[in-house]
Amino acid sequence: MAVPSHVVFVVPFLLESSLRFAAAAGRLPGVRLAILSQDMPERLPEELRPLVDTFQRVPDAMNSAQLVEGVRVIARKWGGRVDRVMGILEQLQVPLAEVREQLGVRGMDVEEARHFRDKSLMKLRLAEHGLPCARHCLAPNAEEARAFAARVGYPLVVKPPAGAGSRNTFRVESAEDLEGWLRSDPPLTDAPAMVEEFITGEEYSFDTITLHGKHLLHSISRYRPGPLEVIETPWIQWTVQLPRRIDGSEFDEIKQAGPRAIEVLGIQTGLTHMEWFRRPKGGIAISEVAARPPGAQFTSLLSFAHDHDFYSAWARLIIFEEFDVPERKFSAGAAYLRGQGNGRVVAIHGLEAVQRELGPLIVEQKLPRIGQVPTGAYDGEGFLILRHPETEVVARGLEKIVSTVRVELA
Ligand SMILES: Nc1ncnc2c1ncn2[C@@H]1O[C@H](COP(=O)(O)OP(=O)(O)O)[C@@H](O)[C@H]1O
Ligand SMILES: [Mg+2]
Repeated sequence: MAVPSHVVFVVPFLLESSLRFAAAAGRLPGVRLAILSQDMPERLPEELRPLVDTFQRVPDAMNSAQLVEGVRVIARKWGGRVDRVMGILEQLQVPLAEVREQLGVRGMDVEEARHFRDKSLMKLRLAEHGLPCARHCLAPNAEEARAFAARVGYPLVVKPPAGAGSRNTFRVESAEDLEGWLRSDPPLTDAPAMVEEFITGEEYSFDTITLHGKHLLHSISRYRPGPLEVIETPWIQWTVQLPRRIDGSEFDEIKQAGPRAIEVLGIQTGLTHMEWFRRPKGGIAISEVAARPPGAQFTSLLSFAHDHDFYSAWARLIIFEEFDVPERKFSAGAAYLRGQGNGRVVAIHGLEAVQRELGPLIVEQKLPRIGQVPTGAYDGEGFLILRHPETEVVARGLEKIVSTVRVELA
């Protein structure tokens, strides 16, 4: 029998969202799986234990020096052999690349990972290649932020250079707003802030599969509304929809710019998640690109739209460098249920009506738990996923859910 592929999956916290990917890797024939975590091994769900050959703990699983030590311990157990070191968290992508470089493990290197992780490096690289994106400044102090504002005008967006989940991201509408921010949380030389031109328009994703530098597949989804607007507006429940067809000319610009962006940022093999805007007066702007599988159920949405398990397909892509291109057969969409008010979840209203009307369209759901503390994130406390061959049917269903279901907090 062929020698198995020895895979270390870094899962700092044993959360369902990460473990689903690790389990997919562990289930592939010919994989020997280790989990490297800062969590307690007892917290590994019973049903996953048979998939895990080795569980190794380190105190801080985001720290590359500790990860190197952890991988070394696993390698000793495995006769020195480690073929892949992988993980899905955005904040892990540079540390994982550092571990690979230090231990000579194949996969994305530090230079590539940094261009996906650092939004300023990313935008400079995209602009250098003539790819459309927002004008930006990595401001190390108040003067540079003011000078950028004077040049570009308002509104602006301020965000951390390596953020995720829209955290600490906000709109600056005026010089007064700008001064307010500069007084309360000024950027520093060793903690600069990204200041960007505000792009209006519809927000979308462009998710890709690349193998050995070759663009194999893309998927487009539409956000309603954009994550920043969701964060700003507590009553809005977010939706994301993958249209059934993406071969129309309305997507020509992103289909040209998207794969080129991935190429200049340097990924050779992987799944990427790009976000982009359609500007109201024409043209597009690429917003950011992550070199990892997307969160917020996107990997499930990809799976439903293509009738193909993208959790497993991603693991196989990274580990065995193989990918079978599936056909897009359905529209799929998620409606995210979000607590309204303050306190904990006390009731979910309107669910029966939605289930009665949309029953057969609902392919997956996770309902908010009574007593749950809201996350404050744009993807809320739970979700319903719909699927149907017709884009319009899914669009109407998502609209129905967010206008009918109300998660009450008290
Ligand atoms: N330049 C911009 N113009 C308008 N909205 C923006 C801009 N940059 C970010 N946003 C909004 O903020 C959200 C979060 O920003 P993003 O750069 O995607 O960071 P994160 O890594 O936190 O997802 C985006 O999804 C979008 O809704
Ligand atoms: Mg984003």
